[in-house]
Amino acid sequence: MAKKLPDPVLVGLDIGTTKVLAVVAEFNARGQMKIIGLGHHRSKGMKKGVISDIESTVQSIQRAVEEASLMANCDISSAYVGIAGAHIHSINSLGVAPIKNGEVDELDVRHVLEAARAMAVPSDHSILHVLPQDFTIDGQKGIHDPIGMSGIRMEAGVHVITGSTSAAQNIMKCIRRCGLEANALVLEQIASSESVLSHDERDLGVCMVDIGGGTTDIAVYHDGFIKHTAVIPIAGDHVTNDIAIAFNTPKTVAEEIKKRFGNALIQLVDKHHEIEIDSIGGRPTRKLKRWALAEVIEPRIDELMMMIQAELDRSGFHNLIGSGVVLTGGTSGLDGIVELAEEVFHLPVRRGLPNYQGNLEQAVRNPIFSTGIGLLEYGLARQNRKGRSLEEYSTEEKMSKSIMGRLKGIFA
Ligand SMILES: Nc1ncnc2c1ncn2[C@@H]1O[C@H](COP(=O)(O)OP(=O)(O)OP(=O)(O)O)[C@@H](O)[C@H]1O
Ligand SMILES: [Mg+2]
Repeated sequence: MAKKLPDPVLVGLDIGTTKVLAVVAEFNARGQMKIIGLGHHRSKGMKKGVISDIESTVQSIQRAVEEASLMANCDISSAYVGIAGAHIHSINSLGVAPIKNGEVDELDVRHVLEAARAMAVPSDHSILHVLPQDFTIDGQKGIHDPIGMSGIRMEAGVHVITGSTSAAQNIMKCIRRCGLEANALVLEQIASSESVLSHDERDLGVCMVDIGGGTTDIAVYHDGFIKHTAVIPIAGDHVTNDIAIAFNTPKTVAEEIKKRFGNALIQLVDKHHEIEIDSIGGRPTRKLKRWALAEVIEPRIDELMMMIQAELDRSGFHNLIGSGVVLTGGTSGLDGIVELAEEVFHLPVRRGLPNYQGNLEQAVRNPIFSTGIGLLEYGLARQNRKGRSLEEYSTEEKMSKSIMGRLKGIFA
C-alpha cells in the first residue's frame, strides 16, 4: 500500500509541449537530492508551451504522476509546476524607500521590494515572480544583502515576471483535476537554470537557453542575479515539421531521423552518407543523403539562433556574459547545434545537462530532464530559505502565494 509523503520529499512537474515529466526526490539533511521516482508520458493537449486541450493534458499528467508515484512508492499530493509560453513577459523595475531607523531591517527591505513591484501589470496578466537583483544604499551600488547596513535611502532592483492569468489558471485547473496542489508555478527557464548552471557562470554572466519541442526559453544572468528572461515560440517541433514536409515523410519518421541522423551544421556532415526513410501512404522507402537532411535543419536552427541573438541584444547584456551560452532542453541534443551556436554568437557555448549525481543518474543525464530536476532544486532552495531572514524579504514567495490564492479562489 502506498504510504504518505514524508516532509523532505519534493515533486517537480514539467508539463512540456512534447512530454509531461514528474520527478520525485527526497533530500537528506545536507540538502542532497536522491531521485526516487520518475514518470514520463507523451504530452497531448499542449501547443507552444501552453495548454490547448484540458482533458488531454489532465490525462498526460495523471499518467506521468501515477508512474512516478508507483516507482517512489508514495502518494503525490503536491508539486512544483513549470510554466512557459509566449505570454510570459519580464521587466526590470526599481523601487526606492527610506531606511526607517538608520539601519536596514527586514521591514525596510520588504518596503523597498514592494515599491519595486508597484508597476502597471496588464489586466489579463498576473505576477509570477519578483526576483530581487541588487540593492543601493545612499548611492553605494551592488549590495547583495543589505540587512544591518547603515543609511538613509535604499533602492532595490528587481526582475518582475508576469504571465497570462488564463494560461496559469488552465495549468491550475489541470493540476487540481489530477487531485494535486501546486506548491508554486515556476517559470521553466528559471527551473532549468537551477539544474544546469554553476554559481560561477551566473556570477560571470551567462545566457541559458532551453530549446524544447514548442518553445525556446531564455534566461540571462549577470553578477549572480537574473537580468533578462524571454520565450521564443520556435523549437524542435518546427524542425521535425520542416523535415516531414521537405521529404514527404510522416512526422514520426521525421522525428526519428532528426534525432538519429540530423545535424545543425551542413559542413559537419559526410557528403556521401546515405540513410533510408519511409514515405507517406505505404510507398516504398527512399534513400536520403545526410547532408540533404542537414540542409533542411540548418536554416531553421540558424533562424532560431538569430532570434536568441536579437533577444540578447535587447537585454543589453550581450557583452557581459563572460561565461557564454549554455544550451539545454531536448533540442540541444541535436548534433552540430553547439558548433552552429558558437558561429552565431561568437561566444563559448556548451550543452547543459542536469547537474545531478546519485540514484538514477544515468536515466536523467539528458537535457529533456533539465526543467524537471530544476523544479526540485528550486523547491529545495525555497524550502531552505524558509525561516531565514532573506526569504522574509523575498517578495517572490509572497507573489507566488498571491497568484495561487487568487487562482484557488476561482477554482475552489
Ligand atoms: N537527440 C536529439 N536530437 C535532436 N532533437 C532532439 C533530441 N532529443 C530530443 N529532441 C527534440 O527535443 C524536443 C523535446 O525536448 P523537451 O523534452 O525539452 O521539450 P518539452 O519540454 O516537451 O517542450 P517545451 O519545453 O518546448 O514545452 C523534441 O522536439 C525532440 O524532437
Ligand atoms: Mg521544456
